[in-house]
Amino acid sequence: MRTCGLAWANIRKHTDPLSPVHKSNLAQQACANCHASLKLTKKYGIASHTFQTFADSYHGLAVRGGSVEVVNCASCHSSHAIKTQTDPTSTVHKSNLVQTCGQCHPGANMRFTIGSVHVSSETAGGKDGNSPILYIISSLYVVLIVLVVGGMLFHHALDFLKKIRRKLAIQKGLIEEEHVAHRLYLRMTGHERLQHAVLVISFVLLVVTGFMLRYPEAWWVVALRNASARAFEWRSLSHRLAGVVLLAAGVWHLGYLAFTAPGRVLFRDLWPGWRDLTDPIGVLKYNLGLAPTKPAFPRFSYIEKAEYWALVWGTVLMGITGVILWFDNTAMGLFSKLGFDISRTIHFYEAILATLAIIVWHFYFVIFNPDVYPMNLSWLTGRMSEKEMLEEHPLELVRLKGEAAATTPKPVAPPEPPAPPGPP
Ligand code: HEC
Ligand code: HEC
Ligand code: HEC
Repeated sequence: MRTCGLAWANIRKHTDPLSPVHKSNLAQQACANCHASLKLTKKYGIASHTFQTFADSYHGLAVRGGSVEVVNCASCHSSHAIKTQTDPTSTVHKSNLVQTCGQCHPGANMRFTIGSVHVSSETAGGKDGNSPILYIISSLYVVLIVLVVGGMLFHHALDFLKKIRRKLAIQKGLIEEEHVAHRLYLRMTGHERLQHAVLVISFVLLVVTGFMLRYPEAWWVVALRNASARAFEWRSLSHRLAGVVLLAAGVWHLGYLAFTAPGRVLFRDLWPGWRDLTDPIGVLKYNLGLAPTKPAFPRFSYIEKAEYWALVWGTVLMGITGVILWFDNTAMGLFSKLGFDISRTIHFYEAILATLAIIVWHFYFVIFNPDVYPMNLSWLTGRMSEKEMLEEHPLELVRLKGEAAATTPKPVAPPEPPAPPGPP
């Protein structure tokens, strides 16, 4: 026997927003009482993850985030004829799902029924009752995130310690600081800074509006939601808009690489080479005190190249999975519900990886690196000091100096004095 577990005094019309069976309360206040209870679900031998997987699905996140279009348990399970999925007359029996989803997803087809509704696209969902594919993808991503971000932190920590030790030695008078000219060198052209600025704005907006969807109860999300009743719709619109801007910036950047002379040089200088595998080893040896000098970098070291190519890869992946999430009905119709969930899993974990990688990279190389602290200004001014160039890009410094020497006009020889009039 199933009851809705509702106290008598609480009986209100289902259209009353205070009613536990109002569409925005039903999942949390009616069904979750029992279906999120480990004790009850264990006792009856039914799945205990149905509430959590609903809450973390797009449907659940939309309810939690304050969407006006509300989906709840009853949207699929109906309210007074809730039956097990194995019963052919159940609204969630495979043969009826096209119709069930089709109430709200126009054009739903059989592929909507491939994969399950109650799945977690995060490792937190555990193996039980989860799709093995989603579990494997999310687990691999967790390993990747730990390795990449952990590796970066380790790399930066060694670099930091080495630089601090050198600074202290200079302060103690043990070694002398190299004296360099007060000259600035062009590092990023105006066009490149503009591309970077568009990237900064769209990326930050994507991170904020993306995690806003996934963590609707975080304090900063609650603050934003309190600021506007339509915050959820604004969020969704800004995320798509920023996504389009990011992809457009990608296309613009490709055009820059292909059709401008500085762009072609940039591409050539960013292309990975053999030394990008050997340099990190050289740096590791130097930072550990096993080598006297560190490798002299050209215009871009492996550090910048890794960040650049990670960005290219991340943009492609987020662009593809983002479009799939955006055009949900078409995408589910083509790739099935499972295919859609694979995209969603990748989109979520790649977002975490990208955000952490961008933050850790920039915090160190643009701000806390002792050589540039309080900030490497080249993203704003386009220029870099001779000291920074000597430390991070000595080969490029030599090249720029050579170029400057070749282009400065040589002192012109004074004109020959007119020949004295010779004897006739
Ligand atoms: C009072 C606790 C309670 C509440 C509230 C409750 N359920 Fe249940 N539900 C159960 C129990 C117990 C079972 C298992 C019954 C059985 O096996 O006959 C069950 C079974 C189900 C099943 C079938 C699962 C299966 O494998 O047989 C579905 C679907 C379901 N409930 C959905 C809902 C929905 C949707 C709501 C909210 C509208 C809801 N339930 C509210 C206790 C509850
Ligand atoms: C009561 C209406 C309703 C029902 C029934 C319903 N959905 Fe939805 N679903 C929505 C709404 C509204 C959205 C949000 C659409 C949007 O913003 O593009 C949504 C979004 C989704 C999304 C996520 C889309 C995204 O952009 O991330 C998936 C996946 C999904 N539904 C799957 C299903 C499946 C599978 C079924 C059937 C088992 C189903 N839905 C039944 C209303 C419903
Ligand atoms: C988008 C449609 C949809 C929504 C919303 C939804 N379910 Fe389900 N539910 C399904 C489908 C489809 C199944 C069949 C198994 C699957 O696909 O995961 C199912 C299965 C179940 C089962 C039965 C598992 C079994 O062993 O038979 C329970 C219990 C359940 N849902 C509870 C809930 C609760 C509680 C909520 C709200 C918190 C909810 N569902 C929201 C579609 C939905």
